[in-house]
Amino acid sequence: MEGALRVESARSPAGSPGAPSRVTLQAVAHRYLARQGEVAALGRTDLQVNTGEFVTLVGPSGCGKSTLLNLIAGFLVPTEGEVLVDGEVVTGPSPDRGVVFQQANLYPWMSVRDNVALGPRLRGVGKAERRTAADELLALVGLEEFGNARPYELSGGMQQRCQIARVLANDPDVLLLDEPFGALDAITREHLQMQLHRIWLRSRKTAVFITHSVEEAVFLGTRVIVMGARPGRIVFDERPPFRPEARTPELRATPAFVAWRERVSAVLRGT
Ligand SMILES: Nc1ncnc2c1ncn2[C@@H]1O[C@H](COP(=O)(O)OP(=O)(O)OP(=O)(O)O)[C@@H](O)[C@H]1O
Ligand SMILES: [Mg+2]
Repeated sequence: MEGALRVESARSPAGSPGAPSRVTLQAVAHRYLARQGEVAALGRTDLQVNTGEFVTLVGPSGCGKSTLLNLIAGFLVPTEGEVLVDGEVVTGPSPDRGVVFQQANLYPWMSVRDNVALGPRLRGVGKAERRTAADELLALVGLEEFGNARPYELSGGMQQRCQIARVLANDPDVLLLDEPFGALDAITREHLQMQLHRIWLRSRKTAVFITHSVEEAVFLGTRVIVMGARPGRIVFDERPPFRPEARTPELRATPAFVAWRERVSAVLRGT
């Protein structure tokens, strides 16, 4: 697994102050031209995400979370300012920025394994090598038995895990996740949070993760950002004091965790 997933922790500890900024928004604003006129989706925003940080983003519906993520992904070009990744201006999508949406978009005519191996195949990686890499990633997300299955034979949670494996196969520098667990039941969701957290612990990938669940945001985030609406803006940006290794299911019931969750909820209610 270590072969396919580059481990960054040795070079730069997660979100340490002074670590180089991986994702930078410089005075970024975004407006859409809609039928009913201009929509100011994101007000002027500055943001630096350090290498290895896991940033979670919560905010009311329509406050510009997806817009911000799509700007980093390169699906949108900001109407003002610049988005930089590792100092380079983002001008379009790249496999270096892996995106996971609420609904998995796996190719139904390909096996689960071939879906995961797609990125490496497009990069010209040989068949044996990409099969090994895909199987390692499927094991990482607990789908080792399902390499030969078709996506429609998987449950929603399994499809999301496959989607995450497919994105990881590109060994992206940045993971961008837009409500990846939003369509799942509570138990599956907690299970996948734990799995994603373990994957992140091993790889320390820089991540931006959007969710409507404050609990999920505080559990997964090394940094929690709350956005407010009209125009979309950052109203809260802090690092929960829980060590990554301490993020176990038991953490959720501790007074410190509950207090943090309530604090973020209060901010959210005030937006
Ligand atoms: N393609 C588009 N054209 C016009 N307006 C858009 C477009 N996409 C989003 N918007 C508007 O921009 C604002 C921000 O939308 P965005 O999708 O970023 O919100 P969000 O925070 O992700 O919401 P949700 O939590 O519901 O997913 C909203 O007012 C929305 O109506
Ligand atoms: Mg959204």
